[in-house]
Amino acid sequence: MITIEANGAKIPALGFGTYQLTGSLGTDMVATALNLGYRHIDTARMYGNEAEVGRGIATSGIPREEIFLTTKIWPDDFAHDDFLRSAEQSVKNLGTTPDLLLLHWPSKTVPLDETIAALVEAQRKGLTRFIGVSNFTIPLLRLATEHSPIPLVNNQIEYHPYLSQDALLPFHRKLGIATTAHCPTARGKVMDDPVIKKIADAHGTNPIQVTLRWLIQQEGVAAIPRTSSEKNAKSNLKVLEFELTPDEMAQISALRSTNYRICDFAFSPVWDAVA
Ligand SMILES: NC(=O)c1ccc[n+]([C@@H]2O[C@H](COP(=O)([O-])OP(=O)(O)OC[C@H]3O[C@@H](n4cnc5c(N)ncnc54)[C@H](OP(=O)(O)O)[C@@H]3O)[C@@H](O)[C@H]2O)c1
Repeated sequence: MITIEANGAKIPALGFGTYQLTGSLGTDMVATALNLGYRHIDTARMYGNEAEVGRGIATSGIPREEIFLTTKIWPDDFAHDDFLRSAEQSVKNLGTTPDLLLLHWPSKTVPLDETIAALVEAQRKGLTRFIGVSNFTIPLLRLATEHSPIPLVNNQIEYHPYLSQDALLPFHRKLGIATTAHCPTARGKVMDDPVIKKIADAHGTNPIQVTLRWLIQQEGVAAIPRTSSEKNAKSNLKVLEFELTPDEMAQISALRSTNYRICDFAFSPVWDAVA
Protein backbone atom coordinates (compact mmCIF):
# COMPACT_ATOMS: atom_id res chain seq x y z
CA MET A 1 0.00 0.00 0.00
CA ILE A 2 1.27 3.52 -0.84
CA THR A 3 1.53 5.55 2.37
CA ILE A 4 1.48 9.31 2.84
CA GLU A 5 3.64 10.75 5.61
CA ALA A 6 2.06 13.88 7.07
CA ASN A 7 3.43 15.56 10.18
CA GLY A 8 4.09 12.23 11.89
CA ALA A 9 1.05 10.36 10.59
CA LYS A 10 1.33 7.53 8.07
CA ILE A 11 -1.86 7.48 6.03
CA PRO A 12 -2.56 4.71 3.48
CA ALA A 13 -3.23 6.46 0.17
CA LEU A 14 -6.23 4.30 -0.68
CA GLY A 15 -8.94 4.28 1.97
CA PHE A 16 -12.51 3.10 2.24
CA GLY A 17 -15.37 5.61 2.63
CA THR A 18 -18.45 4.60 4.62
CA TYR A 19 -21.02 7.35 4.04
CA GLN A 20 -24.50 5.72 3.91
CA LEU A 21 -23.08 2.29 4.81
CA THR A 22 -25.22 1.73 7.89
CA GLY A 23 -26.57 -1.31 9.73
CA SER A 24 -25.27 -4.76 8.83
CA LEU A 25 -24.12 -3.47 5.41
CA GLY A 26 -21.76 -1.05 7.19
CA THR A 27 -20.29 -3.73 9.45
CA ASP A 28 -19.99 -6.27 6.64
CA MET A 29 -18.44 -3.86 4.13
CA VAL A 30 -15.84 -2.60 6.61
CA ALA A 31 -14.83 -6.17 7.52
CA THR A 32 -14.82 -7.13 3.83
CA ALA A 33 -12.73 -4.11 2.83
CA LEU A 34 -10.18 -4.86 5.53
CA ASN A 35 -9.95 -8.49 4.49
CA LEU A 36 -9.47 -7.45 0.87
CA GLY A 37 -6.48 -5.32 1.93
CA TYR A 38 -7.76 -1.81 2.75
CA ARG A 39 -6.04 -0.35 5.80
CA HIS A 40 -7.68 3.08 5.98
CA ILE A 41 -11.34 3.54 6.96
CA ASP A 42 -13.25 6.83 6.95
CA THR A 43 -16.36 7.52 9.01
CA ALA A 44 -18.01 10.46 10.84
CA ARG A 45 -20.41 11.12 13.70
CA MET A 46 -22.83 12.44 11.09
CA TYR A 47 -22.92 9.13 9.15
CA GLY A 48 -24.55 7.42 12.14
CA ASN A 49 -22.43 4.31 11.57
CA GLU A 50 -19.46 4.57 13.94
CA ALA A 51 -20.66 1.54 15.93
CA GLU A 52 -21.01 -0.50 12.74
CA VAL A 53 -17.56 0.60 11.57
CA GLY A 54 -16.10 -0.37 14.94
CA ARG A 55 -17.80 -3.78 14.78
CA GLY A 56 -16.49 -4.28 11.23
CA ILE A 57 -12.95 -3.60 12.43
CA ALA A 58 -13.36 -5.93 15.41
CA THR A 59 -14.81 -8.80 13.37
CA SER A 60 -12.33 -8.45 10.49
CA GLY A 61 -9.56 -10.10 12.50
CA ILE A 62 -7.10 -7.51 11.17
CA PRO A 63 -4.87 -6.20 14.00
CA ARG A 64 -6.11 -2.75 15.04
CA GLU A 65 -2.64 -1.22 14.79
CA GLU A 66 -2.53 -2.00 11.06
CA ILE A 67 -5.62 0.16 10.42
CA PHE A 68 -5.78 3.94 10.02
CA LEU A 69 -9.23 5.02 11.25
CA THR A 70 -10.67 8.51 10.76
CA THR A 71 -13.81 10.03 12.22
CA LYS A 72 -15.19 13.57 12.17
CA ILE A 73 -17.14 15.82 14.49
CA TRP A 74 -20.11 17.76 13.10
CA PRO A 75 -20.18 21.59 13.60
CA ASP A 76 -23.28 21.41 15.87
CA ASP A 77 -20.83 20.09 18.49
CA PHE A 78 -18.07 22.67 18.01
CA ALA A 79 -18.48 24.55 21.31
CA HIS A 80 -15.66 23.43 23.62
CA ASP A 81 -17.53 21.11 26.03
CA ASP A 82 -19.86 19.74 23.34
CA PHE A 83 -16.83 18.92 21.20
CA LEU A 84 -15.11 16.91 23.92
CA ARG A 85 -18.34 15.08 24.74
CA SER A 86 -18.77 14.26 21.07
CA ALA A 87 -15.17 13.04 20.71
CA GLU A 88 -15.64 10.81 23.78
CA GLN A 89 -18.85 9.45 22.27
CA SER A 90 -16.99 8.63 19.04
CA VAL A 91 -14.47 6.52 20.97
CA LYS A 92 -17.36 4.72 22.72
CA ASN A 93 -19.24 4.16 19.44
CA LEU A 94 -16.15 2.91 17.61
CA GLY A 95 -15.00 0.76 20.52
CA THR A 96 -11.50 1.98 19.72
CA THR A 97 -9.59 5.27 19.58
CA PRO A 98 -9.56 6.81 16.10
CA ASP A 99 -6.20 7.58 14.54
CA LEU A 100 -7.47 10.85 13.13
CA LEU A 101 -10.17 13.23 14.36
CA LEU A 102 -11.37 15.91 11.93
CA LEU A 103 -13.58 18.99 12.11
CA HIS A 104 -16.14 17.85 9.52
CA TRP A 105 -16.90 21.35 8.18
CA PRO A 106 -15.88 24.84 9.28
CA SER A 107 -18.52 26.47 11.50
CA LYS A 108 -20.12 29.82 10.76
CA THR A 109 -21.07 30.38 14.39
CA VAL A 110 -18.52 28.92 16.82
CA PRO A 111 -15.15 30.75 16.81
CA LEU A 112 -12.45 28.55 15.28
CA ASP A 113 -9.97 29.12 18.13
CA GLU A 114 -12.47 27.60 20.61
CA THR A 115 -12.95 24.47 18.50
CA ILE A 116 -9.26 24.05 17.70
CA ALA A 117 -8.49 24.28 21.44
CA ALA A 118 -11.02 21.50 22.06
CA LEU A 119 -9.57 19.42 19.20
CA VAL A 120 -6.08 19.76 20.66
CA GLU A 121 -7.44 18.87 24.11
CA ALA A 122 -9.11 15.78 22.62
CA GLN A 123 -5.73 14.67 21.27
CA ARG A 124 -4.03 15.34 24.61
CA LYS A 125 -6.74 13.35 26.42
CA GLY A 126 -6.02 10.36 24.16
CA LEU A 127 -9.30 10.59 22.22
CA THR A 128 -7.36 10.54 18.93
CA ARG A 129 -3.76 10.10 17.77
CA PHE A 130 -3.79 12.88 15.17
CA ILE A 131 -5.93 15.90 14.35
CA GLY A 132 -7.10 17.61 11.19
CA VAL A 133 -9.91 19.35 9.37
CA SER A 134 -12.25 18.81 6.44
CA ASN A 135 -13.69 21.16 3.83
CA PHE A 136 -11.36 23.95 4.97
CA THR A 137 -10.24 26.70 2.57
CA ILE A 138 -6.81 28.32 2.51
CA PRO A 139 -7.72 31.23 4.85
CA LEU A 140 -9.48 28.88 7.30
CA LEU A 141 -6.62 26.41 7.24
CA ARG A 142 -4.13 29.21 7.85
CA LEU A 143 -6.17 30.30 10.87
CA ALA A 144 -6.53 26.73 12.15
CA THR A 145 -2.77 26.11 12.01
CA GLU A 146 -2.12 29.43 13.74
CA HIS A 147 -4.40 28.41 16.61
CA SER A 148 -3.05 24.87 16.97
CA PRO A 149 0.10 24.20 18.99
CA ILE A 150 0.32 20.74 17.41
CA PRO A 151 0.45 20.16 13.65
CA LEU A 152 -2.65 19.26 11.69
CA VAL A 153 -2.09 16.21 9.51
CA ASN A 154 -4.99 16.30 7.08
CA ASN A 155 -7.57 18.37 5.21
CA GLN A 156 -10.27 16.13 3.72
CA ILE A 157 -11.73 17.92 0.71
CA GLU A 158 -13.86 17.20 -2.31
CA TYR A 159 -11.47 16.35 -5.11
CA HIS A 160 -12.07 14.53 -8.38
CA PRO A 161 -11.46 15.11 -12.10
CA TYR A 162 -14.19 17.76 -12.32
CA LEU A 163 -13.00 20.03 -9.51
CA SER A 164 -9.69 21.85 -9.38
CA GLN A 165 -7.91 22.03 -6.05
CA ASP A 166 -4.85 23.68 -7.56
CA ALA A 167 -4.92 26.49 -5.01
CA LEU A 168 -5.20 24.28 -1.90
CA LEU A 169 -2.86 21.41 -2.78
CA PRO A 170 0.41 23.38 -2.82
CA PHE A 171 -0.65 24.99 0.47
CA HIS A 172 -1.23 21.55 2.03
CA ARG A 173 2.22 20.44 0.84
CA LYS A 174 3.83 23.55 2.30
CA LEU A 175 2.24 22.72 5.68
CA GLY A 176 3.11 19.01 5.45
CA ILE A 177 -0.61 18.19 5.49
CA ALA A 178 -2.06 15.25 3.56
CA THR A 179 -4.98 15.83 1.22
CA THR A 180 -7.75 13.26 1.42
CA ALA A 181 -10.08 13.31 -1.57
CA HIS A 182 -13.74 12.77 -0.68
CA CYS A 183 -16.27 12.06 -3.45
CA PRO A 184 -13.17 10.84 -5.37
CA THR A 185 -15.17 9.36 -8.24
CA ALA A 186 -17.62 12.30 -8.31
CA ARG A 187 -20.10 9.70 -7.00
CA GLY A 188 -19.54 7.47 -10.02
CA LYS A 189 -19.92 10.25 -12.65
CA VAL A 190 -16.45 9.43 -14.07
CA MET A 191 -17.79 6.10 -15.36
CA ASP A 192 -19.35 7.91 -18.34
CA ASP A 193 -16.39 10.17 -19.17
CA PRO A 194 -15.02 9.58 -22.71
CA VAL A 195 -11.51 10.90 -21.92
CA ILE A 196 -11.15 8.76 -18.80
CA LYS A 197 -12.77 5.78 -20.52
CA LYS A 198 -10.20 5.91 -23.35
CA ILE A 199 -7.34 5.91 -20.83
CA ALA A 200 -9.01 3.05 -18.93
CA ASP A 201 -9.31 0.99 -22.12
CA ALA A 202 -5.57 1.50 -22.79
CA HIS A 203 -4.79 0.03 -19.35
CA GLY A 204 -7.46 -2.68 -19.42
CA THR A 205 -9.10 -1.06 -16.38
CA ASN A 206 -12.25 0.99 -15.78
CA PRO A 207 -12.77 4.78 -15.34
CA ILE A 208 -13.16 4.48 -11.54
CA GLN A 209 -9.76 2.80 -11.23
CA VAL A 210 -8.14 5.36 -13.54
CA THR A 211 -9.64 8.22 -11.50
CA LEU A 212 -8.46 6.76 -8.20
CA ARG A 213 -5.02 6.18 -9.69
CA TRP A 214 -4.92 9.80 -10.95
CA LEU A 215 -5.65 10.95 -7.39
CA ILE A 216 -3.16 8.82 -5.47
CA GLN A 217 -0.45 9.40 -8.06
CA GLN A 218 -0.43 13.08 -6.98
CA GLU A 219 1.98 13.96 -4.18
CA GLY A 220 0.35 13.80 -0.75
CA VAL A 221 -3.12 12.80 -1.99
CA ALA A 222 -5.21 9.95 -0.53
CA ALA A 223 -8.61 8.83 -1.85
CA ILE A 224 -11.47 7.22 0.07
CA PRO A 225 -13.93 5.72 -2.44
CA ARG A 226 -17.09 4.21 -1.03
CA THR A 227 -18.80 1.16 -2.38
CA SER A 228 -21.57 -1.09 -1.12
CA SER A 229 -20.32 -4.06 -3.13
CA GLU A 230 -17.48 -6.49 -2.48
CA LYS A 231 -16.88 -6.75 -6.24
CA ASN A 232 -16.30 -2.99 -6.60
CA ALA A 233 -14.22 -2.80 -3.41
CA LYS A 234 -11.94 -5.50 -4.84
CA SER A 235 -11.81 -3.86 -8.26
CA ASN A 236 -10.93 -0.45 -6.75
CA LEU A 237 -7.85 -1.94 -5.07
CA LYS A 238 -6.38 -2.61 -8.52
CA VAL A 239 -5.33 1.07 -8.68
CA LEU A 240 -2.25 -0.05 -6.78
CA GLU A 241 -1.19 -2.23 -9.71
CA PHE A 242 -0.71 0.22 -12.60
CA GLU A 243 0.59 3.72 -13.31
CA LEU A 244 -0.62 6.57 -15.50
CA THR A 245 1.80 8.34 -17.83
CA PRO A 246 2.43 12.08 -17.37
CA ASP A 247 0.36 12.70 -20.50
CA GLU A 248 -2.58 10.67 -19.15
CA MET A 249 -2.34 12.52 -15.82
CA ALA A 250 -2.44 15.83 -17.72
CA GLN A 251 -5.45 14.79 -19.83
CA ILE A 252 -7.45 14.03 -16.67
CA SER A 253 -6.25 17.18 -14.90
CA ALA A 254 -7.50 19.22 -17.88
CA LEU A 255 -11.08 18.07 -17.13
CA ARG A 256 -11.08 20.05 -13.88
CA SER A 257 -12.06 23.28 -15.61
CA THR A 258 -15.64 21.94 -15.27
CA ASN A 259 -15.49 23.12 -11.65
CA TYR A 260 -18.31 20.76 -10.62
CA ARG A 261 -18.80 20.62 -6.86
CA ILE A 262 -21.11 18.02 -5.27
CA CYS A 263 -20.87 18.96 -1.57
CA ASP A 264 -21.89 22.61 -1.68
CA PHE A 265 -24.38 23.69 0.95
CA ALA A 266 -25.75 26.85 2.59
CA PHE A 267 -23.25 26.26 5.41
CA SER A 268 -20.25 25.86 3.06
CA PRO A 269 -17.43 28.40 3.35
CA VAL A 270 -16.56 30.79 0.51
CA TRP A 271 -14.48 28.43 -1.61
CA ASP A 272 -10.95 29.25 -2.75
CA ALA A 273 -10.86 30.80 -6.20
CA VAL A 274 -9.87 28.34 -8.90
CA ALA A 275 -6.24 28.91 -9.85
N1 LIG B 1 -15.70 15.25 4.57
C1 LIG B 1 -16.81 15.36 3.89
O1 LIG B 1 -17.53 16.37 3.96
C2 LIG B 1 -17.24 14.22 3.01
C3 LIG B 1 -18.23 14.43 2.03
C4 LIG B 1 -18.57 13.35 1.22
C5 LIG B 1 -17.94 12.11 1.36
N2 LIG B 1 -17.00 11.94 2.34
C6 LIG B 1 -16.29 10.64 2.52
O2 LIG B 1 -15.78 10.25 1.25
C7 LIG B 1 -16.27 8.96 0.91
C8 LIG B 1 -16.42 8.82 -0.59
O3 LIG B 1 -17.31 9.79 -1.11
P1 LIG B 1 -18.76 9.41 -1.62
O4 LIG B 1 -19.19 8.15 -0.99
O5 LIG B 1 -19.64 10.57 -1.40
O6 LIG B 1 -18.56 9.28 -3.21
P2 LIG B 1 -17.68 8.34 -4.17
O7 LIG B 1 -16.82 7.42 -3.40
O8 LIG B 1 -17.06 9.26 -5.17
O9 LIG B 1 -18.82 7.54 -4.94
C9 LIG B 1 -19.55 6.50 -4.38
C10 LIG B 1 -20.30 5.82 -5.52
O10 LIG B 1 -19.34 5.22 -6.41
C11 LIG B 1 -19.80 3.95 -6.78
N3 LIG B 1 -18.63 3.07 -7.05
C12 LIG B 1 -17.56 2.85 -6.25
N4 LIG B 1 -16.71 1.99 -6.83
C13 LIG B 1 -17.26 1.64 -8.01
C14 LIG B 1 -16.86 0.77 -9.08
N5 LIG B 1 -15.71 0.10 -9.03
N6 LIG B 1 -17.69 0.66 -10.15
C15 LIG B 1 -18.85 1.35 -10.21
N7 LIG B 1 -19.28 2.19 -9.26
C16 LIG B 1 -18.49 2.33 -8.16
C17 LIG B 1 -20.59 3.45 -5.60
O11 LIG B 1 -21.59 2.58 -6.04
P3 LIG B 1 -21.68 1.04 -5.47
O12 LIG B 1 -22.01 1.17 -4.02
O13 LIG B 1 -22.77 0.46 -6.30
O14 LIG B 1 -20.34 0.41 -5.73
C18 LIG B 1 -21.22 4.74 -5.06
O15 LIG B 1 -22.49 4.96 -5.64
C19 LIG B 1 -17.59 8.87 1.69
O16 LIG B 1 -18.07 7.56 1.78
C20 LIG B 1 -17.18 9.49 3.00
O17 LIG B 1 -16.45 8.56 3.77
C21 LIG B 1 -16.63 12.98 3.15
